[in-house]
Amino acid sequence: MKKIFLVAVISMFAIVAAACSSDKESSSSGDGEKASSSDKPIIIKFSHVTAIDSVKGKAADRFAELVAEKTDGKAKVEVYPSSQLYGDADELDALVSGNVHMIAPSVTKMVKLDPRWQYVDMPFLFEDQDHARKFFESDVAQTILNSDQLANNDIMGLEFWENGFKHFSDNKHPLKTPADFKGLKFRAQAGKVLESQFNALNAGSATISFGETYAALQQGTVDGQENTFNNFDTQKYQEVQKYLTTSEHGRLDYAIFVNKSFWEGMPEDIRTQVEEALKEATELEWQLAADENEASFENIKNSGKVEVTELTPEERQKFVDALQPVYDEFSDDITPELLEGIRSLK
Ligand code: LMR
Repeated sequence: MKKIFLVAVISMFAIVAAACSSDKESSSSGDGEKASSSDKPIIIKFSHVTAIDSVKGKAADRFAELVAEKTDGKAKVEVYPSSQLYGDADELDALVSGNVHMIAPSVTKMVKLDPRWQYVDMPFLFEDQDHARKFFESDVAQTILNSDQLANNDIMGLEFWENGFKHFSDNKHPLKTPADFKGLKFRAQAGKVLESQFNALNAGSATISFGETYAALQQGTVDGQENTFNNFDTQKYQEVQKYLTTSEHGRLDYAIFVNKSFWEGMPEDIRTQVEEALKEATELEWQLAADENEASFENIKNSGKVEVTELTPEERQKFVDALQPVYDEFSDDITPELLEGIRSLK
C-alpha cells in the first residue's frame, strides 16, 4: 500500500514538472522578448500553402537550416507547408494575431489589407523575369512593402520571393484565342482584378483556396485555373487539366511578412542573424524559381497528359488587347504611381 502511495506521489511530481516545462516552451515560442530570457530556442513559426518540393517549400526549408546554423540553434524556424497549419483563408489573420510569425503568401492575397498588391495580376505588366526582379529591388517595391497598411496591422514586409509567370489551363479545349474562354469557369486566387480579367474574356471565376483547387478541378467545380509551371507540376494538375497555354499574362510572386511585435521583440543579435539567413535564402529562392519552373515545364510536357499551346506574338497581342478593360477598371486602385513605377523599370 505504502509503495503504491509513493509511486502515485512521484508520478504527480513528474506531471507537474512536465506541465511547468511545457508552459515555458509555449511562452518562448509566442514572443521573441520572453524567449531571450530562457535557454529554449526562439521558435519562429513559418506557415505556407505550397508543397515541400515547390520553389517556396524548398526555399523555406533552406531558410530554416540557415537560421539554425547562423544563430547556433538559438532560433529555430518551424516550417508548416501545404496549408497544414493555416490555408489561404486564415494565414494572414494568424499572422496578425501572432499565432504564426512568418508567412510568404502570393502577394495578391494581401488585397485584404491593401488593394495595391494586385499590381501582380495586372495583365502583361511585367515584360520578363528581369523586369520582375528589378521591381523587387526598387524603391517602388519598398513603398508597398513598408506601407502603413501593414504596420497598422502589426505586420512588416521583409523580402520579395519569386515564383514566375502564370499560364492558363483548362480541361475543355485548347485556349488559343480570347474567344476560347467564353463560358468556361476558372479558379482565382483572390481579389477583384482576377475576377475582372476573366470577365474580360467572357469567362466566369471563383475564388478558391490553393489547398482546395485540385479537388475543384477534379470535381468540375471549375474548368480551369492559372498558375506557374512549378505550382501546376507540384500540385499534380497534369492529372486534372488537359490543356495549357503558355500565356505569361500575369505574375505570381511572394513577399515574406512577419508579425512586427514578435520580430521587434527578438534580441537584436539574433534578429540580425535571422535577417542574414533570410537574405541568403532569398538569393537561393530566386535561383530556384528560375530553375524549378523550367524543370516543371519539361515535366508537364513529358507527362503526355497535357496538350501545350505556345502563343505566337500576334496571338499574344490579342490577349493584351482583350484584357485592356482591366486597366480601365483598376488603374486607380493599384495607383498610377505604382503602375508607372513598375513600367519605368522595363
Ligand atoms: C495560389 O494560390 O495559386 C498560389 O498563391 C499558391 C502559392 O503560394 O504559390
